[in-house]
Amino acid sequence: MAESVPRHIAIIMDGNGRWAARRGKPASAGHRAGAERIRDVLRACRDRGVKALTLFAFSSENWQRPPREVELLMGMFYSYLGREAERMREEGVRLRVIGRRDRFSPRLVKAIERAEALTAGGSEGDLVIAADYGGHWDIANAARQLAEQVEKGELAAADVTEERLGMGIQLADLPPVDLLIRSSGEQRISNFLLWQTAYSEFFFTDVLWPDFGEREIDAAIAAFSTRDRRYGGRGNQCDLGAASGA
Ligand code: IPE
Ligand code: IPE
Ligand code: MG
Repeated sequence: MAESVPRHIAIIMDGNGRWAARRGKPASAGHRAGAERIRDVLRACRDRGVKALTLFAFSSENWQRPPREVELLMGMFYSYLGREAERMREEGVRLRVIGRRDRFSPRLVKAIERAEALTAGGSEGDLVIAADYGGHWDIANAARQLAEQVEKGELAAADVTEERLGMGIQLADLPPVDLLIRSSGEQRISNFLLWQTAYSEFFFTDVLWPDFGEREIDAAIAAFSTRDRRYGGRGNQCDLGAASGA
């Protein structure tokens, strides 16, 4: 049976650069306008009963951007945490940041830890920000943890199962990603959640991230509610008829 509201939505927030270019502005203007959309999108999701929202803010590959752009994005992430963490705490939103931290400045790492600690008690919903995140890193990270257990003799190689590996993948404790949205017309995963999207529904919109809002969330949820999620099974809309005698 079709589910009406996804428990967990993940979004690839794309199109800031093109939004700015169309206005004859530098990419920084697009990133600033894009960051302004997050609060409304989080609220729209919560109002509609979505329990978890995961946002792709900076990929492992985004370090290839011009240094000034990277610096701007890091600075914006730092001020976002300072500005929004208290509001999240008041609203009962628990914040989590996933991805590598060893390439961030110590100041940014502290800000992430502070914001996570401040909101740790939140029980109204989860907001996950993926920063210096890559799906390949995530899987390799989980594999490394199991390898360490094998190395110590705590686990046999034969015990490296899908279930065990899956437990070490980020977000294993949250509801599965039911719906993945990408803005800006691109239709690719760009190394976002790979393991976690094995059975997610996908929704692509041409709207650029700085123009993305409640309307697009509604359109995505409406599309989701019409999807028949079969998970490889037969589903229940196909009548096989009587035994064919084959
Ligand atoms: C997404 O917008 C933000 C990040 C990747 C950090 P882009 O900057 O990729 O925007 P486009 O794809 O160039 O339009
Ligand atoms: C994906 O967007 C990463 C984020 C939105 C943070 P990109 O703009 O980096 O992806 P590609 O380069 O178009 O695949
Ligand atoms: Mg892009």
